[in-house]
Amino acid sequence: MFTFAPTDGQSRAELHADLLEAAKAITDGEPDGIANMANLAALIWQYLPDLNWAGFYRMVGGELVLGPFVGKPACIRIALGSGVCGTAAATATTQLVPDVHAFPGHIACDAASRSELVVPVIRDGAVIAVIDLDSPSSARFDEDDACGIEALAAAIATRI
Ligand code: SME
Repeated sequence: MFTFAPTDGQSRAELHADLLEAAKAITDGEPDGIANMANLAALIWQYLPDLNWAGFYRMVGGELVLGPFVGKPACIRIALGSGVCGTAAATATTQLVPDVHAFPGHIACDAASRSELVVPVIRDGAVIAVIDLDSPSSARFDEDDACGIEALAAAIATRI
C-alpha cells in the first residue's frame, strides 16, 4: 500500500514539491511504463485540486495516443499540431491555456473543461508523451503549475 497524500493547507509550491517526491518514489525501480503512467496520473489527481482530467498521451507512430489517465473517457488519437496536446507535442513546449475556448483548435473531450495545462515529456531530445491536465475552472493553472509539471516530466522521462 502507498500512503502518499497531500495535507491540508499546503501551498501550491508545496503540493508540487511533494507530488514530485511521490512521483519519483512510486516509479523508482519499476520498469513498466504503463504502470508508472497509471500511478503518476493517480498521484497528480490526488495532489492537485480542481482537476477534471489528468493523464498521458503517448507519441506512437507520429501521433499522440491516449495513455493512462483519471477522468472521463477521452479522444484516443490526436494529430501533431492539433489541439492543445498536439501543439505541445509538435512544438515541444508547455501550453498554459487559461481559457480553452479561446485556443484555436482546442479538442473538447470533456465539456466541463475550462482551462488546460499540457507539458511535453522529452527523452533524448524527442517528445515521447505529453502530460495533460484539465480543470473545470477558468485560469486554474499558473506558472508554478507549469514549472511543477515540467519538473515532474523531466523526472519521469526515463520511467514511462
Ligand atoms: N483538450 C485536449 C484534448 C485532450 S482532453 O483534454 C483529455 C486538446 O485540445 O488537445
